[in-house]
Amino acid sequence: MRVLSGIQPSGKLHVGNYFGAMRQHLALQAEHDCFYFIADYHALTSNPSPDEVLAHTLDVVMDYIALGLDTGKTIFWRQSDVPEVTELTWLLSCVTPLGLLQRCTSYKDKVAQGLSPNHGLFAYPVLQAADILLYNSELVPVGADQKQHIEVTRDIAIRFNNAYGEIFTVPKEHIIESVAVVPGVDGRKMSKSYGNTIEIFEPEAGVRKKIMRIVTDSTPVEEPKDPDKCNVFALLKLVASAEELSQWESRYRGGGLGYGEAKKRLAELMIDYFKPFRQKRAELENNIDYVKKVLADGAGRARAVAVETLEKARVAVGLRR
Ligand code: ADP
Ligand code: TRP
Repeated sequence: MRVLSGIQPSGKLHVGNYFGAMRQHLALQAEHDCFYFIADYHALTSNPSPDEVLAHTLDVVMDYIALGLDTGKTIFWRQSDVPEVTELTWLLSCVTPLGLLQRCTSYKDKVAQGLSPNHGLFAYPVLQAADILLYNSELVPVGADQKQHIEVTRDIAIRFNNAYGEIFTVPKEHIIESVAVVPGVDGRKMSKSYGNTIEIFEPEAGVRKKIMRIVTDSTPVEEPKDPDKCNVFALLKLVASAEELSQWESRYRGGGLGYGEAKKRLAELMIDYFKPFRQKRAELENNIDYVKKVLADGAGRARAVAVETLEKARVAVGLRR
């Protein structure tokens, strides 16, 4: 099956990104024909500095390669290296009712938070639809927050096909079964925008320091504790074996456990979990030319598909014969 997903270049990736999305993207490679890209055009909607756009793009690429992206099989590229997607965005815009975009909650939420929206932010779902339709994607693995955007894509594809003939594959969403929301060190959802993240590849000392600072309640050591309400336990669930986890669970419930002890073990497990990939990540950092080559190669392979689909769409609407 043709699988496609986009990742915004928002900086170095964190543990929440890994367990919430990346791990599943990487697992899908074994059985499917995967197309993954860095959504740098989408990132411009929040007006990052020019230096940030490029640096963040390279960080995300290095993180993905280090963690197991199969560069021989999976097509991995930078969205803006295949500019055909912007032309398709225009063709799709012309069959997209305004109301469809006005109903998008991610747009409405940002406006409600006081952000003064630009046209790019409003049109964001049409660019996303073009990403998906340009590559004849069948399955789009995304977090639950993106479900509506995939529905918009389906709606746009159906409208276009009804008007001009069966040009596009209507994709299905695949909502990633996330390990619930990964909490950050302050207990809120781990997110770049909250500054509460543990980066996958930050230096080990930094990982330890952050984990020791995770917010816990003030239950005295001797009293029983509820693991399901503890941020440390939520993270332990991601990295501890089932056997070890059940031991921690009994220790929480039995009383006599200090959170410091659980945090120390969590730090060890978290560091061990990503250790096999650290060396690769460091090598990539010293070989940016290779990283750029992976992107250039991916762009070439992606473009071959894009050019064909775009040409069909141009003919369908009457721009060409
Ligand atoms: P951030 O909130 O740090 O900006 P993004 O919104 O760019 O992260 O998320 C990229 C992907 O990682 C999405 O698919 C999202 O569902 C997943 N993700 C991000 N944070 C978490 C989290 N705390 N728990 C689970 N999944 C997450
Ligand atoms: N909007 C997605 C996000 O913020 C990123 C994205 C852009 C995407 N284009 C896509 C995801 C196409 C899936 C398919 O996470």
